[in-house]
Amino acid sequence: MRVVVTGLSHSYRHRRVLEGVDLECGPGAMGLLGPNGAGKTTLLRLLAGVLRAKSGWIQAGRHDLRTRAGRRALRRGLGYLPQDVALPPDMSTRDFLDYVGLLKGMADPHERRRQTAEMVEHLGLDLVSDRRLGTLSAGTRRRVGVAQAFMGDPGLVLLDEPTSGLDPEERIRLRSVLGMLGGDRTVILCTHLLEDVTAVCPELAVLHAGRVAYSGSTSGLREIATDRTFELPRPPAGEGFGDLGPPRRERLLTDFPPPGARPVTPSAEEGYAALMHDLRGEPVAW
Ligand SMILES: Nc1ncnc2c1ncn2[C@@H]1O[C@H](COP(=O)(O)OP(=O)(O)O)[C@@H](O)[C@H]1O
Ligand SMILES: [Mg+2]
Repeated sequence: MRVVVTGLSHSYRHRRVLEGVDLECGPGAMGLLGPNGAGKTTLLRLLAGVLRAKSGWIQAGRHDLRTRAGRRALRRGLGYLPQDVALPPDMSTRDFLDYVGLLKGMADPHERRRQTAEMVEHLGLDLVSDRRLGTLSAGTRRRVGVAQAFMGDPGLVLLDEPTSGLDPEERIRLRSVLGMLGGDRTVILCTHLLEDVTAVCPELAVLHAGRVAYSGSTSGLREIATDRTFELPRPPAGEGFGDLGPPRRERLLTDFPPPGARPVTPSAEEGYAALMHDLRGEPVAW
């Protein structure tokens, strides 16, 4: 599903939090990045049809989200993990996923059971599938939240900080699951952590203060730090410890390279850091 956002703005009371957002994505996965307060959650809520756009236009596949009919039609093919989701504490994981399937219009109980089993397996929920949701750890509940978003085989999946509360191992596992579940649907994954998206999402967009500060590929993001990323050969620390192997090298992101610094290919993290510096209007110097 192709999602096209044009000139989208949003205010809470009188505070503008999105300003003229233009964005296109899908089919495939897009990572929506940005610091806290950038407007990512607001954009996702607009895309989910939870909030109504006050100005601007969202087209998701055939659906025009300015119309009530469009929002309702999209909801049937939508998977959404809100940033703060409260799961019913007394339901088991399995019953909850089955129930979400039912709400999404999956009338056939066999198909609901099949998809529930598939999600339980993909998200490593086997051991907790009969436990009450209220007894699960925050990270496990987050994985249940991701699982419910994919129930019903939605064409558009919106995930708001899916890795929050996950430990590093769970996070790595979730990334590989998202790669697998993505398939040819459109997944918009919103996060303040770059490492969540570089492996999974071929396309990135960076929101900053309610505006799109970057959209494009990961390699395009790296380019922002091209000729600003350096390696500095360092003599081994201390004297008289013999040969400590090759000299240590220090990486620097800077607009003022010191003598002896050699330009190197930047990482996506360095590209992102350079972008953030540019947005704040500060030269990179450290
Ligand atoms: N319901 C709300 N009412 C008023 N202000 C809000 C509301 N939700 C978010 N905001 C404000 O809007 C801005 C963008 O928030 P949000 O979309 O949650 O950003 P992000 O998800 O990138 O952290 C923030 O300054 C936040 O404080
Ligand atoms: Mg948010």
